[in-house]
Amino acid sequence: MITGNSIVNNLASFAFDDIDDLIQTLKKQGISPIDFGIGDPKEATPEFIRKVAKESIDSNASRGYPIYNGTVEYRYAIAKWTKKRFNVTLDPEKEICAGLGAKEIIFNLPNAFIEPGDYVIIPNPGYPPYLKGTLFARGIPYFINLERSNNFLPDFNSIPQNVLTKTKIIWLNYPNNPTGATATLDFYRATVEFARKHNILVVSDECYSELYFGEENRPHSILEITKEGVLCVNSMSKRSCMTGWRIGWICGDEKLISITKKLKTNIDSGIPYFIQDAAIAALGDEKHVEEQRTKLMMKRNLIVEAFKKSGMEDCSPNGTFYLWQRLPEKIKGLDLCKKLLDPKYAIVMSPGAWLAETVNGSNPSEHYVRMALVPSLEECKVASEKIIQAIAKP
Ligand SMILES: Cc1ncc(COP(=O)(O)O)c(C=O)c1O
Repeated sequence: MITGNSIVNNLASFAFDDIDDLIQTLKKQGISPIDFGIGDPKEATPEFIRKVAKESIDSNASRGYPIYNGTVEYRYAIAKWTKKRFNVTLDPEKEICAGLGAKEIIFNLPNAFIEPGDYVIIPNPGYPPYLKGTLFARGIPYFINLERSNNFLPDFNSIPQNVLTKTKIIWLNYPNNPTGATATLDFYRATVEFARKHNILVVSDECYSELYFGEENRPHSILEITKEGVLCVNSMSKRSCMTGWRIGWICGDEKLISITKKLKTNIDSGIPYFIQDAAIAALGDEKHVEEQRTKLMMKRNLIVEAFKKSGMEDCSPNGTFYLWQRLPEKIKGLDLCKKLLDPKYAIVMSPGAWLAETVNGSNPSEHYVRMALVPSLEECKVASEKIIQAIAKP
């Protein structure tokens, strides 16, 4: 009998079943819940971006396989945007490589840098491909819990020496999914110093860099500190409502980019030209991103207010489109999620515990829920009322 390998076989299936059952029950009753579960924007990709894509299909009718690392035009557009946004100069020929979205880049990256048995430092809670990519590359994950008391920043001093000596990669993600925290330049500086001392590659997933609440929370890039020993991942998905298009990039240290390019040419055959052209158009416009941020701010304020009115902490995120709501000790995230799936409320959110690994018997996110602020403003208004009603009811 042919079976999957040990890595596939050992992949934990999510404990989504309870919640899925409740959602299905609602649907059978003809109720469609307001869904704050998955971080997939419901808004359409702006029309000017779609228009460029349509035209590009015709102009690239007989162009064949796309260039592996991204077209020159796409890489120049990324360099121009990075200069404008972070005042960082990137060489489009040597310091940028295109990818089929941040997920593809993140999952595959460890294959280019680690040997079996090397450690990879992963934030907990965190985006699952940091872990899955490590496992498939036969690496060992070492989780660092993101604690509210430390502004959801990892404390690298907690890593034991025997792990440090075999560590190859540190993953960072700010603005952070799911906590909504942002990182200061001082934090990036300290991380770079620490990583240099221990000869570790830092990879900073900045795919939410354009989703932030107010100019005072405008995120920095780790590239503002240095390119040396550092790679940075970004994506069109969140900035321009392009999750369905599958396009992103990785940039930074020239030597490290040349290593990722070697890997890349063996994985896929590039991103379709019309998608790259659409991304170039999107990168050249900030207006649609500003509009998105304005809408997001209104949604965030509504939901944060609802929790505050219900006597819960103000957990306003600095960035991303997630609200990471902390609950009192007596309430578990999973219980609140189940309660909100009562037909009276019909609201889907994710229990925090599902987004974190249980390490040494403890899960850092048990008393949290995550809400992806992707439903419409109208739906957020309805949801905010229902949250208040649900929490008020014992
Ligand atoms: C932290 C983080 N990184 C990367 C991604 C993947 O983004 P993309 O759509 O570019 O693959 C996500 C998607 O939700 C994410 O939350």
